[in-house]
Amino acid sequence: MTTLLLHLSDVDEAAWAAAYRAALPDVRVIRQSEPFDPSAIDYAFVWKPKANAFAGLTKLKAVLSLGAGVDALLKHPALPDAPIVRFVDEDLTQRMSDYVVAQVTMHQRLFTRFKRDQVARVWRQNYPPAARETNVGVMGLGVLGADAAQKLVRLGFTVLGWSRTPKAIAGVRTYAGDQLDRFLGETDILCCLLPLTPDTTGILNYGLFKKLRRKLDGGPVIVNAARGGHQVEADIVKALGDGTLGAASLDVFESEPLSPQSPLWTLDNAYLTPHIAAISNIDAGVRYFSEIIREHEAGRPLPHVVDRTRGY
Ligand code: NDP
Ligand code: OXD
Repeated sequence: MTTLLLHLSDVDEAAWAAAYRAALPDVRVIRQSEPFDPSAIDYAFVWKPKANAFAGLTKLKAVLSLGAGVDALLKHPALPDAPIVRFVDEDLTQRMSDYVVAQVTMHQRLFTRFKRDQVARVWRQNYPPAARETNVGVMGLGVLGADAAQKLVRLGFTVLGWSRTPKAIAGVRTYAGDQLDRFLGETDILCCLLPLTPDTTGILNYGLFKKLRRKLDGGPVIVNAARGGHQVEADIVKALGDGTLGAASLDVFESEPLSPQSPLWTLDNAYLTPHIAAISNIDAGVRYFSEIIREHEAGRPLPHVVDRTRGY
């Protein structure tokens, strides 16, 4: 019998197990706390796996990652050689695009300025730029970045994108690799949807902020919904304080949960959310991975396999 092991931290593993058991009646679904024979496990579904998560899983056919991002998983000291399948799903993608669109439109409409005026009881008619006059740069044109970029195009924004290899997306002005500075020089609102790799670690730093276009009233804006490791928080605090950045929307942090001591909490031009931009929904996740298990057991290839050399 096909056997699926669940090894989840910080989420409701019991709820995932119940949903998998309902969706896969022919599969033996085991939780990490239950007794099991590790050599009988075919698939391991994981989120923040502990050090011993993969011990003895000698017959593993695939590691199934609840996370779309696999940076932490790839650093697991005992990660087995099996293929890693990451979460790619319409529901997750839609949630992420919702977050990006909400932040971008808020900043295009100069929310920080009007909120400050409200606090000061100031009536100042300052007309926000039209969407088409606002250049939104999306870093990372993968599953999430491409969808967010397309939705922003539909809203009328001027959309630019930057990726590792060249891309063609209708309505999006695309840049790749060493064209980063040109991309930045045309960007008013920068959205990071990159995977965290050695090449992208710390990319959101003071030097990069200085390269953004300074056309938006109040200064350029960053939106990071990818990973905290992309950002240098001390640089963001400095840039938000000296006007290099007008505002920042951050869903992710160098260390999570964000420390109560972080100066970010008190900045009125920082918009913080606790890594909820696109939570993985149980129904969608179980549907996606159940289908993958069924298909793979029927002899078909695994989709969305992580390239370990690239790191995403
Ligand atoms: P994908 O792997 O589909 O896309 C990654 C994109 O980034 C690709 O376009 C890739 O370029 C580009 N890229 C990678 N490295 C570089 C580089 N060095 N320079 C320029 N571009 C680069 O990832 P997803 O879109 O599915 O997800 C992106 C990230 O979002 C995840 O890794 C995860 O960390 C984060 N995330 C955050 C969530 C949250 O709730 N905050 C929820 C879900 C995901 P190319 O196309 O050329 O390969
Ligand atoms: C993910 C996340 O990578 O929730 O899926 O951050």
